[in-house]
Amino acid sequence: MTRRQVLLGLLVIELVVALIVMFNFGYLSARLQSGAPANAANQEQANSTANNAAPAAVLIPELSPTLLTVFASVPPEATPGNYKMTDALINLGRMLWYDKRLSKSQQQSCNSCHLLDRYGVDGFPVSLGHDNKPVRRNAQSVYNAAFHVAQFWDGRAPTVEEQAKMPIMSKSEMSMKSPAQVEAVLRSIPGYVAAFTAAFPDDPNPITFDHLAQAIGAFERRLVTPSRFDRFLAGDYSQLTPEEQRGLARFISTGCVTCHVGVTVGGLMFKKLGEVEPYQTTDNGRFDITGLESDRHVFKVQSLRNIVKTGPYLHDGSIQTLPEMVRLMARYQLGKQLNDGEIAEIITFLNTLTGDLPTEYIAPPPLPENGPDTQLALQANEGE
Ligand code: HEC
Ligand code: HEC
Repeated sequence: MTRRQVLLGLLVIELVVALIVMFNFGYLSARLQSGAPANAANQEQANSTANNAAPAAVLIPELSPTLLTVFASVPPEATPGNYKMTDALINLGRMLWYDKRLSKSQQQSCNSCHLLDRYGVDGFPVSLGHDNKPVRRNAQSVYNAAFHVAQFWDGRAPTVEEQAKMPIMSKSEMSMKSPAQVEAVLRSIPGYVAAFTAAFPDDPNPITFDHLAQAIGAFERRLVTPSRFDRFLAGDYSQLTPEEQRGLARFISTGCVTCHVGVTVGGLMFKKLGEVEPYQTTDNGRFDITGLESDRHVFKVQSLRNIVKTGPYLHDGSIQTLPEMVRLMARYQLGKQLNDGEIAEIITFLNTLTGDLPTEYIAPPPLPENGPDTQLALQANEGE
């Protein structure tokens, strides 16, 4: 054999090997795409996308992993910076959340306006407060709220802990007389003495209004609702149907993501309602807090997690339906007219933000019974 023949022979062998490799690779990837290795994760996908027989396990061409980085998956809790989350603290917070003895009428708890089994809202345009009188604004959901830049439509409370004190003291809401009266009520209830002591074991004076707020805040920090969208962001693209992905692409290309971004798809910044076209509202929003003219009609960009479940919409609850709300946003915030098809597309995506309620975590606990002095402590509020 000449040198030339040997080389040719080697080339042929290489070609054959290459062909075998290519064939096997094609076969393997076809197998992978057909979802041959059935496992629990696949089963879960199959359930959550049941009405779409063959979910595409890929991103549609309009989307890319880079585009998706404006969002983030919801973590299991919004960890506080200045204290430790313990079971004793959270269990205390859960009891306080449901306790109507923190209101003057003894008819209202936090849960009266933020029903945890109804995505943390009451479903009214504006809530009914003390004596069933309507309050000024729509009750926001408390789910995922601890991730927000600040609390309330105008951001007047910096954290969920600070926020928790306000409805209890508000004359139009729970209407207690003073922090001292709340403390007196709690001290009169033996079960709370034990629960505060367990939650604040190193503190000689465990029952304080600040501690109450911390316990409620701790409880709220685990009110999170992961959804299919989070599993999609984590890379399992089969979680969103092609239609839902097109809705997401429309949400991005329309410009909703200038404001509704991050973990809570909103909640991270303040913006004027009527950014592009002036919107008629008597509520001055953040102006009432800062006194800055540039803050007139500025509100916190609302989170869109569970948005399908938390109507009516807007700070005053004046918008009944989601299509109406999306049309309003496009027009006043972006100067765009969306047609019905485009609005429907966006809403198809918004549906994927509906999360799983933590049913065990929110189950109402038994509340500690009154002690001999509790009625007296509660009555200290009468005649006000
Ligand atoms: C009478 C009804 C009512 C009661 C009772 C009530 N809230 Fe609210 N809550 C509201 C309304 C209305 C708002 C929005 C008010 C605003 O922005 O000015 C709100 C806002 C909030 C927010 C802000 C969420 C966000 O995204 O900014 C949190 C958190 C909250 N409430 C927690 C609580 C807690 C904790 C309690 C019990 C201590 C409580 N609420 C009791 C009606 C109520
Ligand atoms: C310039 C910032 C901005 C842009 C862009 C924007 N939004 Fe908003 N969005 C807000 C603000 C601020 C609010 C709260 C306004 C209020 O209640 O007064 C809000 C509220 C909402 C609400 C109601 C939330 C609730 O709980 O009541 C929905 C739904 C919504 N936006 C969807 C969208 C969609 C869909 C788009 C794109 C078509 C969009 N937004 C574009 C700033 C923006």
